[in-house]
Amino acid sequence: MSAESLENRIFEPSAEVKAKAAVPSMEAYHALCKQAETDYTGFWGGLANELLDWHKPFTQVLDESNAPFYRWFGDGELNVSYNCLDRHLETRGNKTAIIFEADDGSSSAVTYRELYHRVCKFANGLKSLNLNTGDRVVIYMPMGVEAVVAMQACARLGLIHSVVFGGFSAKSLIERIHDASARVIITCDGQFRGGKEMPLKPAVDEALQDADCACVEKVVVFKRTGGAVNWNPAREIWWHDLIAELSDECAPVFVNAEHPLFLLYTSGSTGKPKGVQHSSGGYLLHALNTMRWTFDIKDSDVFWCTADVGWITGHSYVAYGPLAAGCTQVVFEGVPTYPDASRFWKVIEKHKVSIFYTAPTAIRSLIKLGADLPKQHDLSSLRLLGSVGEPINPAAWLWYYETVGGSRCPIVDTFWQTETGGHVITPLPVTPLVAGSCTLPFPGLQMAVVDEAGKDVEWGTGGFLVIKKPWPSMIRTIWNDPERYKKSYFPEDLGGQLYLAGDGAIRDKHTGYFTIMGRIDDVLNVSGHRMGTMEIESALVGNPLVAEAAVVGKPHDIKGEAIVAYVVLKGTRPSGEEAKKIVAQLRDWVGKEIGPIAKPDDIRFGDNLPKTRSGKIMRRLLRTLAKGEEITADISTLENPAILDQFKQVH
Ligand code: WTA
Repeated sequence: MSAESLENRIFEPSAEVKAKAAVPSMEAYHALCKQAETDYTGFWGGLANELLDWHKPFTQVLDESNAPFYRWFGDGELNVSYNCLDRHLETRGNKTAIIFEADDGSSSAVTYRELYHRVCKFANGLKSLNLNTGDRVVIYMPMGVEAVVAMQACARLGLIHSVVFGGFSAKSLIERIHDASARVIITCDGQFRGGKEMPLKPAVDEALQDADCACVEKVVVFKRTGGAVNWNPAREIWWHDLIAELSDECAPVFVNAEHPLFLLYTSGSTGKPKGVQHSSGGYLLHALNTMRWTFDIKDSDVFWCTADVGWITGHSYVAYGPLAAGCTQVVFEGVPTYPDASRFWKVIEKHKVSIFYTAPTAIRSLIKLGADLPKQHDLSSLRLLGSVGEPINPAAWLWYYETVGGSRCPIVDTFWQTETGGHVITPLPVTPLVAGSCTLPFPGLQMAVVDEAGKDVEWGTGGFLVIKKPWPSMIRTIWNDPERYKKSYFPEDLGGQLYLAGDGAIRDKHTGYFTIMGRIDDVLNVSGHRMGTMEIESALVGNPLVAEAAVVGKPHDIKGEAIVAYVVLKGTRPSGEEAKKIVAQLRDWVGKEIGPIAKPDDIRFGDNLPKTRSGKIMRRLLRTLAKGEEITADISTLENPAILDQFKQVH
């Protein structure tokens, strides 16, 4: 089937899906949307009362007096970990909370009661380090039960965690530790990935040598691999030693609904990552409510989100949402291709996963490595599939639908961002689907597409994706930089009231379905990971060889986008072997400065960058060059057209 006809095909959910779904029909969906429109605060306030356990009830749903610094349920008090653990003990104490699937294929199960005790014990450990409510704790750990325990233990005490993805380098770690003034770091000796043992603690050791990390008083180290580690007894303590003598009961610290639950650093359009601050009450409400309405979670489900806890998806749909919903989930340590490209399908079969949530990049790479492999496994336990992080191309969507889902499982293509906390545009299981479209707003979310002046455009016309009203799980501010929060997300050009998502979007002329057209700023989406072009540029110019650099994205079959760097060296433009050598050096350099995920796929050299006479880098030209397309744009303002030929050369 051609891509075009596929985009016009509608996949209706089956009668069976409809009969079971929490939101059972499109009429019910529209009724929820209508309810939110007529009584916005009543809608959210009702959900917050229904779904969360409050220590002190709130009396005000939304406080807009200091917009865009909105407060939700602002005089209520609760504890997130209480809502994820304690409240299940009576009814689900013996239910499996986490099935841990280790890299080597072994697995173990943890019940809600066990998880509760592990979280309490570790929280007592953190308490013994004299941390106070509101202190920041950096978590730098691989996927595993302990990562979830560490996050939940922070939540239990009202400590603000900042999880740093294990693939980030020591340099990135320093930046994040410093910005958050973290007092404690929780890490591991090492991790297992794809059958290999990889050290993790050396990055922490290296970071802590930097004066910017003087704020760190203690490092708690979980022993995962048993590999050799350097040890500083004054500062470091093993996780098992810290908790050895401690009680496995720990009273939750009830905090204000607006108390920050976590910071999560993400890329924006400047060189410095921003610390997105989330709340306790509003965030948890949406993490839980999307588990109900998008994923239609039932007590009998086995939920599996493959995202790492280092990203927002791993926060909302591993560490918090599934536990708040009281469901059984798989936590996976490994990689999709180890021991072979059937790993996902084996795990689904082994643990009878019923809801599977992953990223288009993984889907595309698994198609390439074995499009028929799913057929060799019993995937009949699946009833719902999810996609997240980047646009899913119709061909990959169809394969996911037919070959993985047996044409019986709806795919929820969930559009959202670190800043939105949870899904904002997504099908529900009953939504008629179109491949490659994230369909309609989650009930209550006021999504729109507007022009440069902030006015709604007509369906069928592209524009900026915005959210018209505040919502409970929205970003509260950028840590240490409220001005940047205001400027980046509520720009004056659009009237200062609309939340600007940073993506372009278009609504279908007939259905109103949304299709996301990609970022409108200098943010790339590489394998579903958000990368700022400026971040990579500033890493490159930090290298002593480099005078100037410009980074753009180019379409990539598997990763969605690949990173292309145009570099001007301080010395002469290299060629042949010399160029190859410098390419390798620069890739390594970026790997050390940011992390392996930021290494450019393609580095090219020129005598200078293509600039207009006023000195502006012509990025659009660079994008065209990156794609290998002919330049048809007007280049008469270009100062030195000859360099375009230099930049065509791939090394
Ligand atoms: C992109 C990840 C198309 C988008 C949850 C957004 C998507 C950025 C989708 C946020 C989707 C996420 N379809 N694009 N279903 N989901 N994106 O903060 O460009 O890591 O702005 O959050 O990913 O990335 P982030």
